[in-house]
Amino acid sequence: MKGIVLAGGTGSRLFPLTKITNKHLLPIYDRPMIYYPIQTLVDADIQDIMIVTGGRNSGDFLRLLANGKEFGLKHINYTYQEGEGGIADALALAEHFADGQQICVVLGDNIIQGSIRAAADQFRSQAAGAHILLKEVQDAERFGVAEVEGGRILGIEEKPRNPKSNYAVTGIYMYDATVFEKIKTLVPSGRGELEITDVNNAYIAEGNMTFSFLDGWWTDAGTFDSLLRATNLVAQSVLRKESGQDAVERAVQV
Ligand code: DAU
Repeated sequence: MKGIVLAGGTGSRLFPLTKITNKHLLPIYDRPMIYYPIQTLVDADIQDIMIVTGGRNSGDFLRLLANGKEFGLKHINYTYQEGEGGIADALALAEHFADGQQICVVLGDNIIQGSIRAAADQFRSQAAGAHILLKEVQDAERFGVAEVEGGRILGIEEKPRNPKSNYAVTGIYMYDATVFEKIKTLVPSGRGELEITDVNNAYIAEGNMTFSFLDGWWTDAGTFDSLLRATNLVAQSVLRKESGQDAVERAVQV
C-alpha cells in the first residue's frame, strides 16, 4: 500500500500564522506538523510516500524533509496542488503515483497518539473498496460525521449543524484504485471544494466501505484551539514517555 500526505490548502483559519508559511510547517511541540502524518504512515509499514503541497512555500518541504532519512525512508515523492480545490482535488494529483495500488491518505493536520497498523493490515487483505477510521468526539459538528447502524455506515455528513452521531470521520482514509474515478465525478460543494466526504459517500452507496475506531487521542490542528490542543497532547505524550508523569505536571504548571 502506498501513502499520501495532503499538505496543500491555504490554512486560512490560522491566519496570520499562515501568512508567510504553510500550515503544515508550523510547530507541534518539538516537530513541524507534517512530521506526524508521515510518521503515522511509516508506523503502519508504508514506505512509498507522496506529499501533496501547495502555496508559496512548497520548496520548504523539500528542504525540511529531503529524502525522508529521518523517517528511515530512502525517498519521498512530492507533487504540487495549484489553488485550494479541496481535499479530493489534492488527492486527484496522486493518481499517477498510486499506479493502481491501494492507498492510505492522511490529512497533513491530523495527529494521532496510537497506530493505524492494525487497520492498514486489515485493509491490505480487503479485496476492494475503502476503509475509514472513526473517533467519538464532543464537537462532531466540526467534522465529517458518520451515521452508523448495525455495524454499517449509512452515510456521512460534512460539518452538519445537527450531527446524527458523535462519530467524527478522521482524516485517515484507505482506498482502492477506483477512488480516482470517483473523484472525477465530483462537483464542487457550497464552499467551492471537491469534498472527501462525497468520495466516501460514493463508496458507501456501492456498499464498499468498512470502518474501525481509532485508539488513543486524535486531533486536527487547523484552528487556533486545535493547534494548541495538538501541541499540549503531543507534549504530554512525549514528556510522559521520557520523564514520567511528574515532568508532565511540572510542564503544565509552567
Ligand atoms: O480532520 C478531519 C476532517 O478533515 C474531516 O472530518 C472532514 O470530513 C474533512 O472534510 C476535513 O475537514 P476540514 O474542513 O477540517 O479540512 P481542511 O480544509 O482543514 O483540510 C484538511 C487538510 O487537507 C489540510 O491540512 C491540508 C489538506 N488540503 C485541504 C484543502 C482544502 C489540501 O491538501 N488541499 C486543499 O485544497
